[in-house]
Amino acid sequence: MKHNLSSAAKAIATKSKHSKYLNQLVRVDQAGELAADYIYKGQLMVFKHTELKPLITHMWEQEVHHHKTFDTLQTEGRVRPSLLTPVWRIAALSLGFLTAIRGKESAMACTEAVETVIGGHYNSQLRYLLEAEMKTKEGNEGIENLKKIVSEFRDDELEHLETAVANDAHGAKPYWLLTEVIKKGCAAAIKIAERV
Ligand SMILES: [Fe+2]
Ligand SMILES: [Fe+2]
Repeated sequence: MKHNLSSAAKAIATKSKHSKYLNQLVRVDQAGELAADYIYKGQLMVFKHTELKPLITHMWEQEVHHHKTFDTLQTEGRVRPSLLTPVWRIAALSLGFLTAIRGKESAMACTEAVETVIGGHYNSQLRYLLEAEMKTKEGNEGIENLKKIVSEFRDDELEHLETAVANDAHGAKPYWLLTEVIKKGCAAAIKIAERV
C-alpha cells in the first residue's frame, strides 16, 4: 500500500505535545525494522539454496519495505537515529544467521519470538496514536497516516508470526528457552532504542 509519508513526517517534525513520543516511536521502529531486515538477511544466507528461499525472501522483502519507510520518516521527520545502529545491525544479522544454522525450526522459532514482541509493540503504539488522533485537532492527518503505516506493518508482522508457526516453529529445540531468550532480548532492545 502507498502511504502519505510526507504528511506523517510533518506531524513528527512539528513541535507538539506528542513530539517526544513520536520521536521515540520513529527511532525505535526504524531500529527495529532495520533489525528485522538484517534478521531475514541472515536467514537467507543460510537458506538461499533450499526450498525455504521463496518464503523467507517474501518476508524479507516486506521488512525491506518497512525499513525504507521508517528511514524516510526518520529523515523527513528529522529524528535522530539510534546511536547503537551498528550494534543492532550486527546483533540482528547474527541472530538470523545463527538460529538458521541450527535448522528451519529454530529459524522459525526466532521469527515467532521476534514477531510476537513486535506485534505487541506496534499494538501499544497504535493505542497511543488512536488516542492522540482523537484528542488533537491540528496535525490530525499526519498522525492518522502514521497510524495507517504502523497498522499495516503490524498486520505484516502478525502474518510473519503465523507463517513461522505454520512452518514448525514449535518443533525447535529447546523451544521454550530459545523463544524466551529472544523475546527478552527484543524487549530490552526496544527499551534501549527508544532512548539511545
Ligand atoms: Fe517489519
Ligand atoms: Fe516482520
